[in-house]
Amino acid sequence: MSKVASHSPASLWKIEDWPNSADQVPHKSNDVCIIGAGIAGLTSAYLMAMEGLRVTVLEASMPGDGETGNTSAHLSSALDDRFTELEELFGKEGSFLAAESHRWAIDIIESICLREGIDCDFERVDGFLFTTDPAEEEELRREFEAARRAGFTDLEFLHAPPLRSRRQGSAIRFPNQGHFHPLKYLKGLSKAVQKYGGHILLNHEVIDIHGHEAPYTLTTRQGSTFTASHVVIATNTPFNNRFVMHTKQAAYRTYIVTMAIESGAVNKALYWDMKDPYHYVRLYQPNEHQTLLIVGGEDHKTGQSEDPDSSFARLETWARANFPEAGEVVTRWSGQVIEPVDSLAFIGRNPGDDQIYIATGDSGHGLTHGTIAGMLLNDLVHKRSNPWEKLYDPARKATSFASLKEYFTENINVALQYRDYFSPADLSRPSEVPIGEGAIVRYGLQKLAVYRDHDNELHMLSAVCPHLGGIVRWNKVEKTWDCPCHGSRFSCKGEVINGPAMTNLNKAELR
Ligand SMILES: Cc1cc2nc3c(=O)[nH]c(=O)nc-3n(C[C@H](O)[C@H](O)[C@H](O)COP(=O)(O)OP(=O)(O)OC[C@H]3O[C@@H](n4cnc5c(N)ncnc54)[C@H](O)[C@@H]3O)c2cc1C
Ligand code: FES
Repeated sequence: MSKVASHSPASLWKIEDWPNSADQVPHKSNDVCIIGAGIAGLTSAYLMAMEGLRVTVLEASMPGDGETGNTSAHLSSALDDRFTELEELFGKEGSFLAAESHRWAIDIIESICLREGIDCDFERVDGFLFTTDPAEEEELRREFEAARRAGFTDLEFLHAPPLRSRRQGSAIRFPNQGHFHPLKYLKGLSKAVQKYGGHILLNHEVIDIHGHEAPYTLTTRQGSTFTASHVVIATNTPFNNRFVMHTKQAAYRTYIVTMAIESGAVNKALYWDMKDPYHYVRLYQPNEHQTLLIVGGEDHKTGQSEDPDSSFARLETWARANFPEAGEVVTRWSGQVIEPVDSLAFIGRNPGDDQIYIATGDSGHGLTHGTIAGMLLNDLVHKRSNPWEKLYDPARKATSFASLKEYFTENINVALQYRDYFSPADLSRPSEVPIGEGAIVRYGLQKLAVYRDHDNELHMLSAVCPHLGGIVRWNKVEKTWDCPCHGSRFSCKGEVINGPAMTNLNKAELR
């Protein structure tokens, strides 16, 4: 594998000067408090503020510090779980509604860019679902028919893949897909939220929502409180719902490499294959001298890969086989996607709450799902009906054979992770942990997560995840502790990075 210059999406999508309302007097009581300033939170804030609601967005860190900053930014209505599967899960009507909602999401992103003058490199491009494997031809044919039934009237079936290097295979061309620069878009949305009177407070991490009915009181770790008639939890994975929602979805790591490529060597489009996990590709021009091929895939359940580094190696090998025009690797990173057991996001009232809403289960379509969340939640707050409310209802039950099978497979997998209480440790003593690495060490009946920093100091933490007691595992690529149960992640020193855990790993108690 080639040497790489950077290990973070920041070098690709980085922008500065985020709008912050810290110097304004916060709304005392809000119509809506939105927790999280990713695409779901800021689209909701934008649409609600534009309709005159008093809106405050509370963001633990900076906009885009969540998964919106890790994305590859395909805007696609051709859903990667595929319309043949959606028909099985939700019937022909459900599959049609799902496609319609994602088509609408791309349209609304385009019209928000025009209306607010957001320069975020938004472009319409073709999308190609392709195969080079004769064994997948029949499945692709069936997908073509299912996509047509889902309302794609302008599809084309191609008897060759859209790759210059490959002759054998076929593809479906989906016109009118899109791509953009995700953080330039978020910045534009943030400015528009403020223009319509909304507030965005950075470094405000919500740790509690009090009250069984509106108005709710929200408390932040930084010590401020806010009240709101409606609360939108747009934190990617909901922290308020400790158990139920996490049985309906699972956290996966997905990997990206960007590779230098000559301008024009590959047509500007979205490409994805039919493998499971699938690979996804687009082009991006950071400046007039440079073009990059952004290649993603090789997903696995969070905390469940022995060797995450090999995901990057496999991704690069796949990219070179299919896009031999690609040159050296420039950047690589990984991020988290939340996969619902039945393919579609959960957007709507949090089960059991009247005016608390969640947007989660983004899967590989979180940018369009997040945009749909904005529109759907705005309608719910205004007590208007919405054509997609039932489809995305977080309280929906897995009823089809396919979704029940996925539900049981995922939950048995979670239950099996608790065997780690009894499995051997990685090393026998903390003194064996190398510099810059972490390992699980047994101490009596306890398991410890031990990290040795570059100053040779040992950081000894309890390996028990504060969410629901899973045993974390060391991720040697990202230098994090990852929980294999529901995807909570912690820095090498134990600070929480991804929920649903709300608190850090505890310091080890050595008696
Ligand atoms: C590698 C990768 C590639 C992807 N590619 C695509 C793609 O091509 N197309 C696509 O549509 N989707 C893609 N996705 C998915 C998509 O990027 C995400 O689903 C989407 O950006 C999630 O947006 P969000 O607003 O739900 O969450 P986030 O962007 O994660 O925002 C949540 C925000 O909540 C904040 N927060 C968390 N807890 C708290 C708290 N307690 N208090 C206050 N704030 C809090 C976080 O700091 C964060 O800023 C990809 C994801 C990854 C990782
Ligand atoms: S994330 Fe649920 S137990 Fe760790």
